Amino acid sequence: MTQQTLSIIKPDAVERGLTGTILARIQDAGLRLVALKMLHLDTTEAEAFYAVHKDKPFFGSLTSYMSSGPIVVAVLEGENAISRYRDLMGATNPEKAAEGTLRKTFAVDLERNSVHGSDAPETAATEIAYFFNQLELVG
Ligand code: TYD
Repeated sequence: MTQQTLSIIKPDAVERGLTGTILARIQDAGLRLVALKMLHLDTTEAEAFYAVHKDKPFFGSLTSYMSSGPIVVAVLEGENAISRYRDLMGATNPEKAAEGTLRKTFAVDLERNSVHGSDAPETAATEIAYFFNQLELVG
């Protein structure tokens, strides 16, 4: 089943010049880029993106971090793209992520874990629509 998923290269990775390396790793894994841009969220925009976590103790710190610098957002497409990209990213906590995953390789800590990927088809659709309109997605 062909799926699309939203990827974010987070501020810690963009700041360290890892954007090209991470995009190359995504493409080497066979996921196709169908939309791509760089932007800098303000706090309100980061809070809206992570609204599902608004009652969590880490919400304030997470949204402050996610608005601390530029991010690169992309839409990835491929067979089972959602789980394949989650596998490539590795566990949320980089200390628990498998060898060779993006988070194991690049993450700084649990919060500054370098990448985001949608976790289900419904969230992928919502997250893609949050950042991209139809004109920005190649066919
Ligand atoms: P979550 O949706 O649980 O993980 P994932 O990004 O793997 O889907 O959490 C969203 C982000 O929140 C996560 O990437 C890093 C941050 N976070 C914390 O800062 N502290 C925490 O205890 C957790 C669970 C997540």
